Amino acid sequence: MTARLAILASGRGSNLQAILDAIAAGTLDASVVGVFSDKPEAPALQRVPEALRWARTPKACGGRDGFDATLAEAIAAVRPDWIVCAGYMRLLGAGFVQRFAGRLLNIHPSLLPKYKGLHTHQRALEAGDAEHGASVHFVTAELDGGPVIAQARVPVRPGDDADTLAARVLQVEHPLLLEVLRWAAAGRLRMHDGLAWRDGQPLYTPIYLQFAHD
Ligand code: GAR
Repeated sequence: MTARLAILASGRGSNLQAILDAIAAGTLDASVVGVFSDKPEAPALQRVPEALRWARTPKACGGRDGFDATLAEAIAAVRPDWIVCAGYMRLLGAGFVQRFAGRLLNIHPSLLPKYKGLHTHQRALEAGDAEHGASVHFVTAELDGGPVIAQARVPVRPGDDADTLAARVLQVEHPLLLEVLRWAAAGRLRMHDGLAWRDGQPLYTPIYLQFAHD
């Protein structure tokens, strides 16, 4: 059955666009049933018809708890199978995470557990890492701390700055997210006992996927 995806996005929305393109191309058996944002001006919202857009500022909802509760109700109303944070830049509260536990995925631009939080590309450069990459994981109440499903790596090249490195990571982010969403849509993923599982097997280490990049 076609998986219903609710997408959370705060910015540009290139990961959302990759999802929309894959659905249109018939390579992802899913439909986007709503795009939800904490930033009413987020370009990501413009990528879907108006009927699928939801945006509120936390301020308009009376702060963080009110925002999370309003967001959760709006998401529940579209009956998603999966909720995908695709460039969503706000922390989700414990109540929200609990409500959708096991159906909540995030793409993060680092090889977790390295560089949780912000400025991941700059931090990888400053650490002198030879490799960097992206991770898709189940969301738990710990920031970028939930069990990792899959990762893709890219080399750090001489002369890279945060922008060139971010651009290289983005090239693998899109196919990485799509592959994990194919598994999710096919009912192959679970979160259980604090681990991600695929096809009934616990993933003690993430699945590494390789994709083309410059
Ligand atoms: C992506 O690189 C994504 O991994 C990152 O924000 C960017 C959004 O790009 N997410 C985070 O940093 C989450 N903490 P996009 O809006 O073009 O998809």
